[in-house]
Amino acid sequence: TEARARLDPHDVIADIDRRIFGGFVEHLGRHIYDGIFEPGHPAAGPDGFRQDVIDLVKELGVSTIRYPGGNFVSGYRWEDGIGPVDERPRRLDLAWHSTETNEVGLHEFAAWLDEVGSDLMMAVNLGTRGTAEALDLLEYANASAQTAWTDRRAANGHPDPFAVTMWCLGNEMDGWWQLGHRNADDYGKLASRTAKAMRMLDPGVELVVCGSSGRGMPTFGSWERTVLEHTFDDVDFISCHSYYQERGGNAQEFLASGVDMQKFIESVVAIADTVAATKKSDKQIMISFDEWNVWYLFDDDGGQNDKPEEKGWPVAPRLLEDQYHALDAVVFGDLLITLLQHADRVRSASLAQLVNVIAPIMTEPGGPAWRQTTFFPFSITSRLAGDTAVRVPVDAGTFTSERFGEVAKVNAVATTDADGVSLFVVNRSTTDAADLSIDLSALVRELGRDVTVVESHVLHEDDRYAANTLAEPDRVGIRPLTDVRIKDAALVATLPPVSWAAIRLA
Ligand code: AHR
Repeated sequence: TEARARLDPHDVIADIDRRIFGGFVEHLGRHIYDGIFEPGHPAAGPDGFRQDVIDLVKELGVSTIRYPGGNFVSGYRWEDGIGPVDERPRRLDLAWHSTETNEVGLHEFAAWLDEVGSDLMMAVNLGTRGTAEALDLLEYANASAQTAWTDRRAANGHPDPFAVTMWCLGNEMDGWWQLGHRNADDYGKLASRTAKAMRMLDPGVELVVCGSSGRGMPTFGSWERTVLEHTFDDVDFISCHSYYQERGGNAQEFLASGVDMQKFIESVVAIADTVAATKKSDKQIMISFDEWNVWYLFDDDGGQNDKPEEKGWPVAPRLLEDQYHALDAVVFGDLLITLLQHADRVRSASLAQLVNVIAPIMTEPGGPAWRQTTFFPFSITSRLAGDTAVRVPVDAGTFTSERFGEVAKVNAVATTDADGVSLFVVNRSTTDAADLSIDLSALVRELGRDVTVVESHVLHEDDRYAANTLAEPDRVGIRPLTDVRIKDAALVATLPPVSWAAIRLA
């Protein structure tokens, strides 16, 4: 397939908010315990956190990290996680049918984030709790006046405020599975009064109201409209959550997942702007796409995998430990391209999740840590993405999707910065290589000089189900694109079928 495109640095989408490269850590399975925190592991520091995991999280390049859930937060008492560790209560975690030991709480997690170099994005419990407890947590975390809560914070070793800017008003409150699930009206009212109260305490917070848990939710659309009618003046962001998986062995259909994400974002923007219009307001509500990934949540018969209720009340059970193959990583790379293509309205996003739980990083207790296939598109995109997202329209023909009709075979976006341009491109075809030719004449004109390829990376495996495992942790990796070159002011390269690539020009 011929894939013709042009790259004009003036075809700007928006500046990129680095929070688009966020992550998500939930108290779930082996994410915290036997994941990032494993006292006694040879790589663990005196605080119990594994240095090998810290190094991989740094290499991944995540900006903000959402914490502590997820479904977990809707039953969480944050006070259980502060004070002397040996006095902290063990609790049942109803969301994941596990026992929470509370060895890690706000202080420990914030200290870990300091080592990783990421910012905290905090979720409050609006499932089993309400405005008062959200205010308690905000005062404990952010207040600088001397109060009973800030005295406790100081006594617990943190006199200075944690200064958390981004706050999620609960989690997936549209979901029947959520503790405290309620309808859009009830949630909208609760979120509005909680947001107003939180802003009275700290006007500097940025607030995320819960949108839908997926575009396929029966209340999708009406949920966003009702919730925003209640909270429009009180919040900055509305959340989107979406997970994708191959079903029935239909790889071509799976490779259209980016279109679903695109429709999701564009629908939520349309609804938010409709609410703005009815309120005669110029305010733009932004999207926090604060859960996205590939997740094999359903089996081929439509049943649910990872049913935690079948596993008793264990501490840190193996839950949601998906093993990602090369095809998953290509779809994942396309999802990142889609987020960047909407950088004007997606101002925050969180890859769900980080370690062991539907994660780019895996660990074995007492053993190694390794990179899953999805690690590579994330780390490379985060590292190479510049300040500004730029459109790259590609003409490479289409394939027919059962859900979306004609879908572009090749999808791309670029970013620019003072030193050069980065291109991210995916070949979604399961059969055809794409002969890419991108006209760079507008770029060359703008720069007043020629450009060269300074680095290139491709993720592709002839066996698209190849994965990295404990036994074979480096089976799938990234290779340079062998035939990439500049020819007659065009960037030329061949993208194998089912491949994701990144090219840096300077
Ligand atoms: O990321 C796993 C789970 O997916 C989260 O706890 C929940 O918010 C979503 O349903």
